[in-house]
Amino acid sequence: MRLGWLELAVAAAATVASAKDDLAYSPPFYPSPWMDGNGEWAEAYRRAVDFVSQLTLAEKVNLTTGVGWMQEKCVGETGSIPRLGFRGLCLQDSPLGVRFADYVSAFPAGVNVAATWDKNLAYLRGKAMGEEHRGKGVDVQLGPVAGPLGRHPDGGRNWEGFSPDPVLTGVLMAETIKGIQDAGVIACAKHFIGNEMEHFRQASEAVGYGFDITESVSSNIDDKTLHELYLWPFADAVRAGVGSFMCSYNQVNNSYSCSNSYLLNKLLKSELDFQGFVMSDWGAHHSGVGAALAGLDMSMPGDTAFGTGKSFWGTNLTIAVLNGTVPEWRVDDMAVRIMAAFYKVGRDRYQVPVNFDSWTKDEYGYEHALVGQNYVKVNDKVDVRADHADIIRQIGSASVVLLKNDGGLPLTGYEKFTGVFGEDAGSNRWGADGCSDRGCDNGTLAMGWGSGTADFPYLVTPEQAIQNEILSKGKGLVSAVTDNGALDQMEQVASQASVSIVFVNADSGEGYINVDGNEGDRKNLTLWKGGEEVIKTVAANCNNTIVVMHTVGPVLIDEWYDNPNVTAIVWAGLPGQESGNSLVDVLYGRVSPGGKTPFTWGKTRESYGAPLLTKPNNGKGAPQDDFTEGVFIDYRRFDKYNETPIYEFGFGLSYTTFEYSDIYVQPLNARPYTPASGSTKAAPTFGNISTDYADYLYPEDIHKVPLYIYPWLNTTDPKKSSGDPDYGMKAEDYIPSGATDGSPQPILPAGGAPGGNPGLYDEMYRVSAIITNTGNVVGDEVPQLYVSLGGPDDPKVVLRNFDRITLHPGQQTMWTTTLTRRDISNWDPASQNWVVTKYPKTVYIGSSSRKLHLQAPLPPY
Ligand SMILES: *[C@@H]1O[C@H](CO)[C@@H](O)[C@H](O)[C@H]1NC(C)=O
Ligand SMILES: *[C@@H]1O[C@H](CO)[C@@H](O)[C@H](O)[C@H]1NC(C)=O
Ligand SMILES: *[C@@H]1O[C@H](CO)[C@@H](O)[C@H](O)[C@H]1NC(C)=O
Ligand SMILES: *[C@@H]1O[C@H](CO)[C@@H](O)[C@H](O)[C@H]1NC(C)=O
Ligand SMILES: *[C@@H]1O[C@H](CO)[C@@H](O)[C@H](O)[C@H]1NC(C)=O
Ligand SMILES: *[C@@H]1O[C@H](CO)[C@@H](O)[C@H](O)[C@H]1NC(C)=O
Ligand SMILES: *[C@@H]1O[C@H](CO)[C@@H](O)[C@H](O)[C@H]1NC(C)=O
Ligand SMILES: *[C@@H]1O[C@H](CO)[C@@H](O)[C@H](O)[C@H]1NC(C)=O
Ligand SMILES: *[C@@H]1O[C@H](CO)[C@@H](O)[C@H](O)[C@H]1NC(C)=O
Ligand SMILES: *[C@@H]1O[C@H](CO)[C@@H](O)[C@H](O)[C@H]1NC(C)=O
Repeated sequence: MRLGWLELAVAAAATVASAKDDLAYSPPFYPSPWMDGNGEWAEAYRRAVDFVSQLTLAEKVNLTTGVGWMQEKCVGETGSIPRLGFRGLCLQDSPLGVRFADYVSAFPAGVNVAATWDKNLAYLRGKAMGEEHRGKGVDVQLGPVAGPLGRHPDGGRNWEGFSPDPVLTGVLMAETIKGIQDAGVIACAKHFIGNEMEHFRQASEAVGYGFDITESVSSNIDDKTLHELYLWPFADAVRAGVGSFMCSYNQVNNSYSCSNSYLLNKLLKSELDFQGFVMSDWGAHHSGVGAALAGLDMSMPGDTAFGTGKSFWGTNLTIAVLNGTVPEWRVDDMAVRIMAAFYKVGRDRYQVPVNFDSWTKDEYGYEHALVGQNYVKVNDKVDVRADHADIIRQIGSASVVLLKNDGGLPLTGYEKFTGVFGEDAGSNRWGADGCSDRGCDNGTLAMGWGSGTADFPYLVTPEQAIQNEILSKGKGLVSAVTDNGALDQMEQVASQASVSIVFVNADSGEGYINVDGNEGDRKNLTLWKGGEEVIKTVAANCNNTIVVMHTVGPVLIDEWYDNPNVTAIVWAGLPGQESGNSLVDVLYGRVSPGGKTPFTWGKTRESYGAPLLTKPNNGKGAPQDDFTEGVFIDYRRFDKYNETPIYEFGFGLSYTTFEYSDIYVQPLNARPYTPASGSTKAAPTFGNISTDYADYLYPEDIHKVPLYIYPWLNTTDPKKSSGDPDYGMKAEDYIPSGATDGSPQPILPAGGAPGGNPGLYDEMYRVSAIITNTGNVVGDEVPQLYVSLGGPDDPKVVLRNFDRITLHPGQQTMWTTTLTRRDISNWDPASQNWVVTKYPKTVYIGSSSRKLHLQAPLPPY
């Protein structure tokens, strides 16, 4: 058992903290803010209050606590309220589709959405994913992801999110959330926060890999870096109205994310005025009372560790309210937040029964899989895919990034002899879903591994699509060598081929699966399965070699990218089920590539800075991961240290060309910025609960499922019912000061509305430029607006806005965009607010972070 709340007590006493090796420390912030229905939450709040006011304490607790790992059909399920006909909420992975289900779509990964730079496609994908979850009976889709953001190029789960740039991630995150929630399903912004690598995210997992540690890694992040980088996209998520957040496995400043009052109470619920609920990552909940007071609202999957039958909440939360350590208003707030999210997205109108089962594809299975009880029909095999293959194919082709083109592309399909090379072109001989949670790299790569996956309904391979393309056009020869060891055969085919298309990949995923020595995070940045050898062999024998990469992020290409026989390089990312079809649309010129790389392609791993922490550095205690590079990750770091990348952030070629001219900046006379002020109302309570232990005993007629988590007590003796050996510790020894205070609280200056102070989103400048398609084919361009904030500690430039636009040959358009106050501000830790510094600022419009074609000074306002 981890005494999370003890630590918290230690942290609360500032004097004690500095005594312990000067480890980074997270200041306390109490009480936990209660929701008030601010902004677009008003109606949902009112309905939630009506509902929660009818509940008993045990029923409220049921809403907050999962029933235990594998006890119901979804990866997470809360208790139900049978008295009111309210079933448990179904929470299901993943950010790219419905995990553990059949007759669902396998969408492109988040990193591909980032590569499209297309707000509309992000929305449409979110909507389609939301519809699929809705059709399966899911209440909460566990995505999208902004943590990891991408501090490390080799971080295992970066591909689940979008990009290491906070603006690109924030904008696409918001669109995805709107899409999911417009489909009537609650979205979940995760993992909050600082979850930048898989190594040491959970002590138990690290022990499994042979490390002797007892606590999860601590991401030590300063206030300015947190605001300007990691928190930024989460602010966009809150502003987009996201219904739920998931706190992460790691600690921040040596306090677990799910019981870190500074993160949850202060930043998320006070400053960002988040109105929805916070759930724990699966097993990231480490303390009962402590987490409740620090702002956690839902324990997932409910048990202390998978399958223990014990919970930090459930029975314990009921007792904690009755014995007065957790105020009634705090549990009421948890329940109201959960129900408000439910009503906000229309779950009361859209909910259908859960008609699939995470634990079996069979029609029949155990209702309670963990304990093998109640064999019933569990899977109706409802087909929820509709016409989503179209949007999947479209995103797949829109996300293709053309990195190099020396005349290799587009192809016509009339080539005499097309050679296809590499295992990554073909199918997984074990089946597309042959490795559970995609935990292998067999055949073409279209998704990383871990919980961020869905099963493929089919997977169109590049080999299949290229062959179809050529056969449908004429009489060309096609030969595919998909065994990476068959270098002799490759030589023979390549030397005859008029065009050779080489497929290579690099995979990564979640920490609980180790693929080829990669424990989630990648152990290197090179290609997998001897990809370099394949490229070199083919290129040595064919002067028209096209390389296609399916990779989770950047790989080192320095050895071969400038080989003159390599006539084109394409990054196709993780495109999902329509992989081959999306690719041929671009290779054969039906779609002009318009994707832009959402990360930097450096020459070496070192050029990215901050290495992954791969060895514990604090004895058995929490490994300490200091984010000393601040905001300088990805292109910001390359710019700062004058490192020349091979391909810079934002770069991508097209089959046509574009010209930029006539930048124009217009100040918009925004109102002055007013710090938010005043105070909240006092904490409300809803309904009238009994405080008599006898009213919370297990009902006599209940059929108790073994190891199931319930809200009830065994006996009227709370200590016995809790079973906690430390039960009854004096409250003043571990309840942080102010944590139970329900009186009105001050509103923070940077707060005041969901997403933060509304003045941050005031438009300060309108910026426009003329963009012309100067080539011969229709194509998409992504004009990118960058700003230099001008201070000595600021990055050279930071992305602030973008759009994807389609232009016909010769067509001109005026692209207009805006800069908000947040866009031109820095976080000021002293005033705990955003400020526009006095430094002269410059705005740039360009086609990448280094092709800044136009620039203009921003007039002081
Ligand atoms: C972590 O510590 C740094 C340095 O003292 C501080 O700036 C930051 O606000 C802290 N963050 C959290 C979440 O405690
Ligand atoms: C709590 O949820 C469980 C599981 O759905 C259910 O059996 C139980 O009756 C619920 N308890 C209350 C008080 O509604
Ligand atoms: C209550 O929580 C403690 C840990 O704080 C745990 O040891 C105990 O088993 C829990 N009780 C129940 C009934 O789940
Ligand atoms: C109140 O209940 C909680 C949950 O079982 C327990 O951890 C705590 O020690 C109790 N506190 C007191 C003062 O009895
Ligand atoms: C599939 O992947 C597994 C796990 O990496 C590997 O052991 C196996 O050899 C692969 N099988 C094939 C047919 O590629
Ligand atoms: C990098 O890791 C991949 C995947 O495990 C492996 O195939 C490759 O050989 C490694 N590269 C080097 C240079 O060791
Ligand atoms: C390019 O390909 C030709 C065969 O077409 C070969 O003779 C030549 O050596 C190759 N050049 C390189 C740099 O590999
Ligand atoms: C590529 O090789 C072919 C013969 O295989 C030759 O006809 C062609 O001229 C070569 N192209 C270049 C650019 O060297
Ligand atoms: C709450 O319920 C109790 C009985 O359970 C009753 O005595 C009391 O008056 C009620 N209070 C309110 C405010 O309704
Ligand atoms: C409560 O009673 C059940 C048997 O009904 C037992 O399995 C469980 O361990 C008891 N819990 C505690 C905390 O004593």
